Amino acid sequence: MQTPESNSAAPNAQFICLTCQRGAEPALKKEMAKRRPDFRFSYSRPGFVTFKLPRLMSTEDRLALDVRALGAIFARSCAHSIGRVADKNADPNEFDLNRAVERVWELARAAFETRDAPKIARLHVYERDRFDVGTRGFEPGLTDYAFEVHRALYGAAHDSFRSSFGPNADRLDAPGDPGEVCLDVAIVERNEFHVGFHRVSDAHSRYPGGLFPLALPTDAASRAFLKFEEGLRWADFPIGIGSRCVDIGASPGGGSQALLARGAEVLGVDPAEIDPRVLVNPNFTHLRGKINQLKRKLFRKSRWFLTDMNVAPDYTLDALEEIVNRDDIAARGLLFTLKFFEWKLADNIPEYIARVKSWGFNHVKARQLQFNRQEIMIAALKKPFYR
Ligand SMILES: C[S@@+](CC[C@H](N)C(=O)[O-])C[C@H]1O[C@@H](n2cnc3c(N)ncnc32)[C@H](O)[C@@H]1O
Repeated sequence: MQTPESNSAAPNAQFICLTCQRGAEPALKKEMAKRRPDFRFSYSRPGFVTFKLPRLMSTEDRLALDVRALGAIFARSCAHSIGRVADKNADPNEFDLNRAVERVWELARAAFETRDAPKIARLHVYERDRFDVGTRGFEPGLTDYAFEVHRALYGAAHDSFRSSFGPNADRLDAPGDPGEVCLDVAIVERNEFHVGFHRVSDAHSRYPGGLFPLALPTDAASRAFLKFEEGLRWADFPIGIGSRCVDIGASPGGGSQALLARGAEVLGVDPAEIDPRVLVNPNFTHLRGKINQLKRKLFRKSRWFLTDMNVAPDYTLDALEEIVNRDDIAARGLLFTLKFFEWKLADNIPEYIARVKSWGFNHVKARQLQFNRQEIMIAALKKPFYR
């Protein structure tokens, strides 16, 4: 059996490791080239891309450089590399995991055992996506192997690290707290670990690889439940009991279920049937028809507009624009998907975002969510909101 090799990043170069949906690497590389032309593309595997930083940065500056600061819509997670542990010669099934874990801790000691180094609060272990989203029922998430590697890594932690671990650090799926620094182990192959670190900032960075530990409830009307559940957590809109929402393209109803679970009142617009488990909820009303066929006065009391129509981005934006620009409708927030039937449409994202901002939404963000397919989610909010 071979011994896993570790090599720390050359001291004269620093790298970031990004994960993304499998197939989205060209879109991620393109947006990085546009937004961060000084970051040099370094290495890529499906679902995993690394870049060399344009200059050496202090640890504090690296901690501040996260997915949000990069402005990378297609990145799920960003770890600052401290090295790699790999044994490319060995059969992946004969990979010496315990030895590899020792190597990970050697890298961590070299990077974090100085007095002014940040304290590691938890261990984030995650695999790059094995399949395209939706293929063979695949949904991105924490894998059995990630749990196994986490167990081994946690078990082998020296006291000097263990003493600074945060609550529930023994659980891979426990969320980190804002400000905590995590040691990242991105599993690119079973025998190839990229080791790095990041600081918990937004909702996704609390979880390994930006992967929410969400499973489809058995009574979910559709997998869109996962998309909207993740989208609502990410958007962090104050949607709760009595919030008036419109779900455009609601059939069969998974997305509406995520709203109803928060106590919202939902008008579900769709010419197609709604799942009886959604219809039975007294807070749900089915408005049967296409969005442009319905009387606008139905939406006068609505504040939140969500949509996941299987149409081109311009159609979705036209439909929302026509509603939110009316004097008799006071929209506070929007949460919607833009579907890229061809990847070329992703080039238009800056224009799509500018268009949404021109409607008076002053907080607009976009992200390819874990449960998005070839599409992105946009969250737009008016803050403060007067009505
Ligand atoms: C991907 S499905 C939506 C899944 C749904 N959000 C859920 O949570 O189960 C797309 C839906 O958009 C609807 N749709 C397409 N064009 C529409 C339009 N112009 N007005 C209303 N609904 C539309 C379709 O009938 C279809 O049910």
